[in-house]
Amino acid sequence: MDLLLLLQKTLVSLFSAVAAAILISKLRGKRLNLPPGPFALPIVGSWLQIGNNLGHHDFTNYAKKFGQLFLLRMGQRNIAVISSTELAREVLLTRGKEFGSRSRNIVYDIFTGKGQDLVFAEYGDHWRKMRRIMSVPFFTNRVVQQYRREWETEVAKVVEEVRRNPAAAEEGVVLRRRLELMVYNNVYKMMFDKRFDSEEDPLFVKLKSVNGERSKLGQSLEYNFGDFVPILRPFLRGYLKTCREVMSRRLNIYKDSFIHQKKKSVVATRNGMVEKNIDLKCGIDHFLEAQKNGEINEDNVLFIVENMNAAAIDTTVWALEWAIAELINNPRIQAKLRTEIDTVLGPKNQVTEPDTHKLPYLQAVIKETLRLRMIVPCLVPHMNLHQANLGGYDIPAECRIYINAWWLANNPAHWGKPEEFRPKRFLEEESNVQVNGNNIKYIPFGVGRRNCPGMLIAMAVLGITLGSLVQNFELLPPPGQSKIDMAENSGQFATRMLNHATIVLKPRYV
Ligand code: HEM
Repeated sequence: MDLLLLLQKTLVSLFSAVAAAILISKLRGKRLNLPPGPFALPIVGSWLQIGNNLGHHDFTNYAKKFGQLFLLRMGQRNIAVISSTELAREVLLTRGKEFGSRSRNIVYDIFTGKGQDLVFAEYGDHWRKMRRIMSVPFFTNRVVQQYRREWETEVAKVVEEVRRNPAAAEEGVVLRRRLELMVYNNVYKMMFDKRFDSEEDPLFVKLKSVNGERSKLGQSLEYNFGDFVPILRPFLRGYLKTCREVMSRRLNIYKDSFIHQKKKSVVATRNGMVEKNIDLKCGIDHFLEAQKNGEINEDNVLFIVENMNAAAIDTTVWALEWAIAELINNPRIQAKLRTEIDTVLGPKNQVTEPDTHKLPYLQAVIKETLRLRMIVPCLVPHMNLHQANLGGYDIPAECRIYINAWWLANNPAHWGKPEEFRPKRFLEEESNVQVNGNNIKYIPFGVGRRNCPGMLIAMAVLGITLGSLVQNFELLPPPGQSKIDMAENSGQFATRMLNHATIVLKPRYV
């Protein structure tokens, strides 16, 4: 009965909305010179034709048909996709302020408290403040130098555990699981001066589970229809309720298990004990200090923790997974990397962060991984708050803007044989291209105001981890398999490996 009523209401709303949309479009006339794109119906736009085919490969194909700037009208959302270096430069750099906001969907409205965080905040004072407050404890080279020994120790523990596990050298292990623990430890050390002893640590299990649920719910494409076509939103009621529940469980864990614990220990310290413990030691000390000074509120503190869990951990683990898989599928490249490490460092001298800068081929392997297997292939969507003109077209206000960064880095017009995994290109014809976006055709971390502030951390962790693994083990596919399956899973913003690979790690030194 309820469902029937809902259906009736939906149909009535649908007809009224169609009539209203036709009327509005007639009244507006053809005043906007919109970019080309597929045919769009009132209400649903091009959603019926396009569906959820909104990945970077789909965008690459549409660009061949509609051009370097095209517009998808997906119900209430306008999505502009940019596939040229010139327009990307304009959006990210020359007119970075104008296009520097973020477009959220209904699920990310829930997960970010409508942009109270940093990643999905509108461009403006709040975003500036959050980015400044997070910079000191996370985003500088000083931080890398402060934590790099901890990160080196974490990798050494992985190496030791794998070496002691006979299965790793024979049938193989899903190394990703252990690497995930390592990256959690790296990030939690910076945030809370905390580490988890094992994959079975109950708090780690709890965190991994809620963060995993959040990632799955957020990355899924199955809620797009309700985001695009608001009158269909009642059908998403259950999904959105689950999102709200997961969000509140997650924030409660951060609050109860970390933030409140920290507050208690600060009070205990202030009540006459070891004074030097009040020094700002890790991220949370900085945030509580900013809260005490009235710069941010408790919700902002929670969203900083939320963002670090979402932006710092999965991205790094996924990049490691892709890099390891490429090294296994390209044994000659793996061997060449090992030779470089042995030659530059001498046998058995374990790779440290400063060493990674003396290993150009290691840097090239990382760059090539982030080129071919770009983790955030269309960047985190940008948005213009006001109507704008771009490439001769009108871009409606609050348009979601995707920069197809993957295509910029894989366009055969700008790259030799881009489909090949060939790190050497970054030592030869592309030797001037850095990860910091000095050349707009290669922006795995974005560029400009909203670029990835975690780039230095990510590059350090990737370098130490891959260097150590290749130095200590021969990485191989599992018995009976000649290659690792490189199938992709593209979600709302990120692309990861579809299947977590089992890999064999044969120790080099016994
Ligand atoms: C391989 C690892 C990583 C990759 C590929 C990556 C990539 C990106 C990309 C493409 C963006 C969006 C840029 C844009 O929209 O213009 C971004 C934003 C961001 N990343 Fe990363 N990231 C990685 C690791 C990290 C780490 C380790 C942290 C934190 C320590 C981090 C924190 C952030 C934050 C806070 C933003 C939002 C910045 C803003 O909106 O102002 N990322 N990242």
